[in-house]
Amino acid sequence: MAQLWGGRFTKETDQLVYNFNASISFDKKFYKQDIAGSRAHVKMLAKQGILTEEERDAILQGLDGIERDVENGTLEITSEYEDIHSFVEANLIQRIGDAGKKLHTGRSRNDQVALDMKLYTRDELIAIDGELKELLSELLNLMEEHIGTYMPGFTHLQKAQPITLAHHIGAYFEMFKRDRGRLGDIYRRMNYCPLGSGALAGTTYPLDREYTAILLGFDGPTLNSMDSVSDRDYLIELLSALSTVMMHMSRFSEEIIIWNSNEYQFVELDDAYSTGSSIMPQKKNPDIAELVRGKTGRVYGALMSLLTTMKGLPLAYNKDMQEDKELSFDAMDTVKGCIALFRGMVSTMRVRKDRMENSAKNGFTNATDAADYLVNHGVPFRDAHGIVGRLVLHCLEKGISLDEMSLAEFREISPVFEEDIYDAISLKTCVEKRTTIGAPGKAAMEAVIRQEKQYLEEKQPWE
Ligand code: ARG
Repeated sequence: MAQLWGGRFTKETDQLVYNFNASISFDKKFYKQDIAGSRAHVKMLAKQGILTEEERDAILQGLDGIERDVENGTLEITSEYEDIHSFVEANLIQRIGDAGKKLHTGRSRNDQVALDMKLYTRDELIAIDGELKELLSELLNLMEEHIGTYMPGFTHLQKAQPITLAHHIGAYFEMFKRDRGRLGDIYRRMNYCPLGSGALAGTTYPLDREYTAILLGFDGPTLNSMDSVSDRDYLIELLSALSTVMMHMSRFSEEIIIWNSNEYQFVELDDAYSTGSSIMPQKKNPDIAELVRGKTGRVYGALMSLLTTMKGLPLAYNKDMQEDKELSFDAMDTVKGCIALFRGMVSTMRVRKDRMENSAKNGFTNATDAADYLVNHGVPFRDAHGIVGRLVLHCLEKGISLDEMSLAEFREISPVFEEDIYDAISLKTCVEKRTTIGAPGKAAMEAVIRQEKQYLEEKQPWE
C-alpha cells in the first residue's frame, strides 16, 4: 500500500478498502498522458518562478526515465500504488529525490485525473476517427466498383424498388460521415484544459493556465475550476457518438448476415472472416458481423452506465467519477476493434452480382415504374396504381414477372400500354432513370461519389 496521503491518519487502511478504492489496475492505461501533463505542469511552474530551472530539468529527466522504463518493460506498474498519479510521483522521488516532491505543487489529483482522462479520450477520439475514415474510403471503393450492380431495395424487408449496391453502401457512407462529424463537434467542445483547477477552487500559486493549455494542445483553459474537475460531459458525448457508430455498424452487419444467408446468397464472406461449426461440417458462419452487432449492446451499456453514475452528483469531485474509466476504455477499444474488423470483412466479401440482379428482377420491384409509365401516358396516379395492382395479381396467378407478360395481356388490363412498356420497366431503366441527386441512377451516383471524394480530403478540427 503506497499512498500519497497518510499524514492525518492514525490507522492503516483496511486491505479490502484499499483494493476497493484503488484505480491503478485500469488507470495505468494513461501513464503516458499522466506524464505529459506533469511535464507541462513543471515547465509552467518554472516559468512562473515557482520551481527553479534545475528542479524543472531534474523532474523532466526523471519523467523521461519513468516513461522510457515503463515502455521498455524494465519498470512495471504494480498494484502496490493506489493510482497512476501516485505511481509516477513515488517513482520520481525515488529517482531524483527532493525535487520530485515538488512536482505536485499547485495541483490536485482532481485536476490531474480530469486532464489525463481528457488527453486519453482526445487521443482515442482521433484514432477512432482515423478508423472511420479508412472504413469510408473502403466503402467509396466499393461504391465505385458497384455503380452498375443492380439489387432490390427493401422496405419492411420486402422487395420494393430496384437500386444498386453502390447506392445501398452509399447510405452507410452517409451514416459514418455523420459519425465523424459528431467526433469533430465533440473535439471542439472538449478541447479546453482543466489543469490548474486544483482540487476544486483553483490555487493561490500564480499559475499560467494559458501556457499549460497551449503546451498540451488545447484551445485554452477551462473557465470554472469546479466544473473542470467534475465535468465528464465529453465522455458522455463520446459514448453517445460511439453508440451511434455501433448502431450503424450493427445495421450493416445485420444486412450482411442476411445477404450471406443460404436463402439470399447476395454475398459470400471470405473464409478469413468466417468461422465454422464444431458439429456441422457444412457451416460457414458470419461470426464477425454477429459479434459487431452483439458488441453494440456493450457500448450502449457504457453510455447508460456513465449517465447513471453522473446523475445527481453534487459539485465538485466525487469518487463516483472514478467509475468513468473502465467502461470508457472498454467502449473505445471495442469500437476501434469493431471498425477495423468490419472494414476487413466488407472489403474481402465476394459480391454475387448475378444473385442480386436476379432477385431485383423478381418480386415486382418495377411495379412503381409500370405505374409511372401509365401516368406519363395521362392516367391519374391513383388509377395507374390500381391497374398495376391487377397486373401483379395476374402475374402472381401465372407465376411470371411483369416483363414476361405479353403485350396482349398488358393491353387486356389497360389499352394504354404499348410496345415501349418493356423498355420502361426494364431493370436498367428503373434504376438509371432515377437521376435526381441522392437517387441510385448512374449519373446521380457519379456526382455523389465525386462529392464524397472531396469530403474525404476535408480536415477535422485537430488536423
Ligand atoms: N483515481 C481517481 C479517479 O479516477 C483519481 C482522483 C482522486 N482524487 C481524490 N480526491 N481521491 O477519479
